[in-house]
Amino acid sequence: MFKIGNVEIPNRVVLAPMAGISNVAFRKTVKEFGAGMVCAEMISDKALLLNSKRTLKMLEVDEAEHPISLQIFGGEKETLVEAAKYVDQHTNADIIDINMGCPVNKVIRCEAGARWLLDPNKIYEMVSAVVEAVEKPVTCKMRIGWDEDHIYAVENAKAAERAGASAIAMHGRTRVQMYEGKANWKVIKEVKEAVSIPVIGNGDVTSPELAKKMLDETGVDAVMIGRAAQGNPWMIYRTVHYLKTGELLDEPDLKEKIDVLTLHMDRLIDLKGEKTALMEMRKHASWYLRNVRGGGKIRQSLKEVSTREELVNMLQEFLKETSTREHKLNKEILV
Ligand SMILES: Cc1cc2nc3c(=O)[nH]c(=O)nc-3n(C[C@H](O)[C@H](O)[C@H](O)COP(=O)(O)O)c2cc1C
Repeated sequence: MFKIGNVEIPNRVVLAPMAGISNVAFRKTVKEFGAGMVCAEMISDKALLLNSKRTLKMLEVDEAEHPISLQIFGGEKETLVEAAKYVDQHTNADIIDINMGCPVNKVIRCEAGARWLLDPNKIYEMVSAVVEAVEKPVTCKMRIGWDEDHIYAVENAKAAERAGASAIAMHGRTRVQMYEGKANWKVIKEVKEAVSIPVIGNGDVTSPELAKKMLDETGVDAVMIGRAAQGNPWMIYRTVHYLKTGELLDEPDLKEKIDVLTLHMDRLIDLKGEKTALMEMRKHASWYLRNVRGGGKIRQSLKEVSTREELVNMLQEFLKETSTREHKLNKEILV
């Protein structure tokens, strides 16, 4: 257990914010698999202030999700502060997170996201203004630097701490790396040693053992898991269990995967309606069926599904075929 401001985080495993993925349907599912905290996908300060219906919907929090952080991004102080105040006063979030890691050009061009990593003074100024304007704890999610020659992780983290941030999530890649190459855990360790607020380490935590390795090697308060949880909420459950007991649980079987995939789909349909949900479920289903024997063929067919019924039938058919094949194989082995 650790604390972010006055918010208790019951364990050391956190779901990363992922645009297009970490919405309430996925977060709730991951929460049921034991995540200590879930983080919502980034929200533009300007879109929020324009009262865009789609954006306001992204601010909805389910009672079962706590503790949860909602993340905003922006490049100008005035709009960022107004958006933070809105999240503070009109949402059920426990924590307000500021994005200073997003590497995409569209965000950088607005002076937002990873753009701040070159300027600890800007970090100090922006975070101070937000912290002063809100009641909820404010956290920052950043990358270690802009590129190899501009790694200001320690300065940036210290600037955020001085400005009143209650925790930092540090992704061990630079902006230029995007999502490629290895995350640098050494710099994460340096950051942990330099500040006294909680630090959450992020990048390349792809197994329960690696989660433990990051905690041991860097001393961070928690690990944040992103891509390894896509189509794999068991990654969260198995990591929580491993950290608690040292026991490595088996991967789920196909039936369990299909059951959870279906639950996730139904939640996404509730959130976005069948048409959009099914478009999005194509990628999720493909992730759920990663590393499943015979999954290659069904992953191809997923590109064509557009209704709940089609996807359910396809999955049930696949489950039946797989069980028959395995039953036959077992019989042959016994003979
Ligand atoms: C599809 C996708 C969307 C992402 N969206 C966000 C976002 O909205 N906010 C954010 O701070 N980070 C975002 N990230 C970065 C992740 O939170 C995380 O820092 C990164 O994936 C590294 O962690 P991992 O190696 O565990 O995946 C995103 C990453 C991916 C792959």
